[in-house]
Amino acid sequence: MFNIEEFDIKLDTEVIGRSFIYCDEVDSTNSLLLNSREFNSHGTVILAEHQKHGRGRKNREWYSNSGQNLTFSILLKGEFNQEQVNLINLGAAISVAQALENLFQLDIELKWPNDVLIQKKKVCGILLESTSKGSVLSKIVVGIGINVNQPNFPGKFDIPPTSIRKEFHDEVSRERLLCEILNNFENNMDLSESNPQKILDDWRSRCKMLGEKVKVVEEEQTKYGIFQDIDTDGFMLLKVGEKIVKIHYGDVSIR
Ligand code: BTN
Repeated sequence: MFNIEEFDIKLDTEVIGRSFIYCDEVDSTNSLLLNSREFNSHGTVILAEHQKHGRGRKNREWYSNSGQNLTFSILLKGEFNQEQVNLINLGAAISVAQALENLFQLDIELKWPNDVLIQKKKVCGILLESTSKGSVLSKIVVGIGINVNQPNFPGKFDIPPTSIRKEFHDEVSRERLLCEILNNFENNMDLSESNPQKILDDWRSRCKMLGEKVKVVEEEQTKYGIFQDIDTDGFMLLKVGEKIVKIHYGDVSIR
């Protein structure tokens, strides 16, 4: 059982998570925030113990044991362009990384665009979804799934999964972890406006694939090259032969 009081005491944000909805079971916390008229204020966070249809990137499913992990979404309202969305995406991954480093001294790797890994195993996935008014994105939902106390992961996976408990060798307080992530996230949202370079540098410093030969699987194409950098908008720059190709979306792995 998630202890809301314990969470509330440690939350140190102005806006993010101040409206907090705790659910036993939902279809998907992302879908709920994207479609709800009731839960529609900037900074609202919905946490669910169980998702019937948790979604991942590229229409994959996100499975998570009930009551052991964190599956939640954060609603951001405003007027956003694609570059801001990319920075928020990177900022969300950095927020999780910082929390795991500070609370558990774990060595965290970030994989473009926003997977969080420990020892090459995936501990957290992030899915950003948005709705638009004309050409402007007016609502962004940042969905975060973290394997916290799940002891094992039966099944086949592209990237082997792990949990914090498996890596830290102890049970973890989900309340404390969620607070830490939301506190970091609010800071990183501010930074993405005031100092976007810092967000890019914080992300680069945790990415172990920079400079490596990689394979990028886009919708229908596979590209091979050297992961040169991310650009100022957070897109991946892939060196293919002598050309630099900008990658907007895809799955990256070491070649
Ligand atoms: C991925 O790695 O493919 C992204 C996984 C994102 C999962 C989270 S769990 C909370 C939120 N609600 C969803 O349906 N998906 C995200």
